[in-house]
Amino acid sequence: MMGNARFRRTKVRTIICAGVAWSGLAVTGAMAASSALAVKASMAASGAVAATGVPAATPVLATVSMAAGAARSAGMSPARAEPPGTVHPQLWPELAPAFPPDPALEARITALLSGMSLEQKVGQLIQADIDSLTPDELRHDPLGSILNGGNSGPGNNDLAPASEWLAAADRFYDASVDPSHGPHPIPILWGTDAVHGDNNIIGATLFPQNIGLGAAHDPQLIRRIGEATAVEVRATGLDWTFGPTLAVVTDVRWGRTYESYSQDPQIVRAYASAMVTGLQGAVGTPEFLDSSHVIATPKHFLGDGGTGGRDQGDTRATEAQLRDIHGAGYPAAIAAGAQAIMASFSSWQGVKMHGNRGLLTDVLKGRMHFDGLIIGDWNAQGQVPGCTNFSCPAAINAGIDIVMAPDSWKPLLANTLGQVRNGEISAARLDDAVRRVLRVKLRARLFDEGRPSSRPLAGHFELLGSAAHRAIARQAVRESLVLLKNNGHVLPLDPHARVLVAGDGADNIPKQCGGWTISWQGTGIGNGQFPHGESIFSGIRRAVAAAGGSVELSPSGEYKRRPDVAVVVFGENPYAEFQGDIGTLEYSPGHPADLNLLRRLHSRGIPVVAVFLSGRPLWVNPQLNASDAFVAAWLPGSEGAGVADVLFKSAAGQVAHDFRGKLSFSWPRTPQPTVPDHGKPADSPLFPAGYGLTYASDVTLAPLPEIADTRDADRIDTRSFFAAGRPGAGWHWVAGDGWPTTRAVPRGVGVADGGRLRLSAVDHAAQEDARRLGWAGGGPALIGLAGQAPIDLRRESNGQLSIGFDIRVDKAATREVDAQMACGQGCQGSVPVTNALRGSSAGQWRHVRIPLACFAKTGADMSRITVPFSLQTAGELAVSVADIRLETGTDGLLDCPR
Ligand code: BGC
Ligand code: BGC
Repeated sequence: MMGNARFRRTKVRTIICAGVAWSGLAVTGAMAASSALAVKASMAASGAVAATGVPAATPVLATVSMAAGAARSAGMSPARAEPPGTVHPQLWPELAPAFPPDPALEARITALLSGMSLEQKVGQLIQADIDSLTPDELRHDPLGSILNGGNSGPGNNDLAPASEWLAAADRFYDASVDPSHGPHPIPILWGTDAVHGDNNIIGATLFPQNIGLGAAHDPQLIRRIGEATAVEVRATGLDWTFGPTLAVVTDVRWGRTYESYSQDPQIVRAYASAMVTGLQGAVGTPEFLDSSHVIATPKHFLGDGGTGGRDQGDTRATEAQLRDIHGAGYPAAIAAGAQAIMASFSSWQGVKMHGNRGLLTDVLKGRMHFDGLIIGDWNAQGQVPGCTNFSCPAAINAGIDIVMAPDSWKPLLANTLGQVRNGEISAARLDDAVRRVLRVKLRARLFDEGRPSSRPLAGHFELLGSAAHRAIARQAVRESLVLLKNNGHVLPLDPHARVLVAGDGADNIPKQCGGWTISWQGTGIGNGQFPHGESIFSGIRRAVAAAGGSVELSPSGEYKRRPDVAVVVFGENPYAEFQGDIGTLEYSPGHPADLNLLRRLHSRGIPVVAVFLSGRPLWVNPQLNASDAFVAAWLPGSEGAGVADVLFKSAAGQVAHDFRGKLSFSWPRTPQPTVPDHGKPADSPLFPAGYGLTYASDVTLAPLPEIADTRDADRIDTRSFFAAGRPGAGWHWVAGDGWPTTRAVPRGVGVADGGRLRLSAVDHAAQEDARRLGWAGGGPALIGLAGQAPIDLRRESNGQLSIGFDIRVDKAATREVDAQMACGQGCQGSVPVTNALRGSSAGQWRHVRIPLACFAKTGADMSRITVPFSLQTAGELAVSVADIRLETGTDGLLDCPR
């Protein structure tokens, strides 16, 4: 089934693989095979998905002819000496233009261009954040677009009601078309991260995060989610979203894994087309970018998911892997008419994407005929060699058309203007970038639409969280749930039963939603911020009440009356971007509360149904063993009732909704991440991608091994340094009177420095999960955690992470005490903690957090930390410490020394 795709044949063999099917769904389109043969033929996907009924927009394709050298550097055989990051555009899919030539449109752009001042033109290339730009400033500096970052909102309030967003949209629009800009003002665009619904707006419908949608394997549903999202964004007067994310994540330790639909390029490809079409409307039809649709921005181009689990890291894939795995979604998105594409923070083969002209210009704009605009990511220009946040001709010359300069826009504007004047940025490049921005604005009918509040859907706030949209979200929740275990057919549940609902995720909508929810990290909010949303507990209560059963909610699991069954909802707490990067796949290392809860209920003979909320598959063998049934619910969003729809039979005893979700990522067998070979699933997963039981399955899961040995010579845990009584992977305890003489203390139990220093195991939350560190005085000495290989904590330090730990003073300090982070001999940062320790009552545990930035400020080179934690004093002291890790949050946060 090839849909409407046309293929232009070349002399060279063209390989086409089509009709890939999962769960009865056929996806058509040419498919790039990642085999050696794939390099012989260039392929691309039309992205047309039969099931969606999307008019197979623009036919794609084909071709190939390839130089031998190019073949080698594409991963075929030892490469010729070529600088890393060199691109061979002829290896990439050649797309037919998604839009037919439009001389009238281009003539209108030419006319606009000729009337624009240089300042106006350069302004179109720069985007500011609404927290750092006022409408008055916009009257003076004519920027082409604005955004709201995850923590930004009208009047610097990200909790502002929808009406204030619309009012702000009017204010910025008015300023952009102010007569101060001369006779030809250019109306402004406002972009937002509407990535699982219009998620910055209180009251919006929040759909499952992408990883859950990937499990649904339903492009038709994805298109409807896109349509509903666009309508809700339009209600607030905005016209542009930064999505969909087309990352193909190959290492789920990455904190953005949940933004990825799947590790399977085919799913990403099918969804790319469906989501772009849903958001923008179908190309070539009157609905395309009409007043109920918004501009889509597939992101992050390219290789964002291949960085080995590090946010903004480096993807060391071959060119063929970059194209076939990480690039899988882009041809489909472009064919569906995507108007913007966001460049990735990450690098490919060590070269920052924001400076990669070969990929941005030669491949995307040249080979793939993408005629929309490329937007940069949040101050990512500053990471290009030779650039700062305030000046980066290299990014514009590489092909970025709009630089996202949230707080750096003003100096960037001045500097870019200077670089245009002195020729560092050519007039041709400037005009091309402005032409692209204007093309998108014209296609989006921005010049004809008028003020945001005058547009058809604007102000119709009843569309936010409307019944129709919530029904789509609830369906998506049902379809995304994956059943991993159902021993003894404990599911489906009888709604007439006495049901205990336990776990801290049971009645917790923010936890269901994850990051990019109202706030950037999805933190600092409660159920009250979801006026239309429903928790998983609330959905269960309604289902059971309707049938005449009884429900008891008890997060701790203690019940008043013995239940017939317990549903335990637990899992990861919200995070976004690098704050979600982890070092081990073990769920919640060192925090056994959820496991203890499952075990307690299980040991009492109560059937236990685990509902696991997470942004990725994690190693949960102990939790699987302690449950009779186990459901991977991902981050389902605001419509928690979709869970009860599937878990419970109807009052009449029928199964209304069976499980139909299948894993879109494989589930790990061990906590050790297998270093991914791009796209190749991890070796021998516990459950492979595509796995998922239904009520008809007769599968009993045998008990699984529970030893989580996270110590692994090859790996370093860059997040958790000591948890559950063990150092994290790659770390060990040390003690001594200075770095050269500091010695390892095996297991963190023993004496050092002639008996002056003493380490012993003590209990905190569990048996021997803490260490008591003792100093007998008599001169400076330190006790801490060291590793063999240095770790780079620059991103974490800039990103406002802290090192946090639980501490109890067992014997008060007689001299000053410092916390230190060290980076080799003579390289360290020190933060006094004497007062913090003095302030804690003796014998009481407390939590302390020290901003990493304090260590950077006081001399630590954060790019090569070898000792992430140590305490040093010359006097006497005894403290117990537990759970030493990088974290966010403000409880117990110390100030940096001045
Ligand atoms: C993220 C993007 C996002 C942008 C604007 C960046 O940090 O990487 O995905 O669109 O911020 O919030
Ligand atoms: C995010 C923004 C967020 C900001 C906070 C960025 O990396 O993408 O959306 O508001 O950080 O500093």
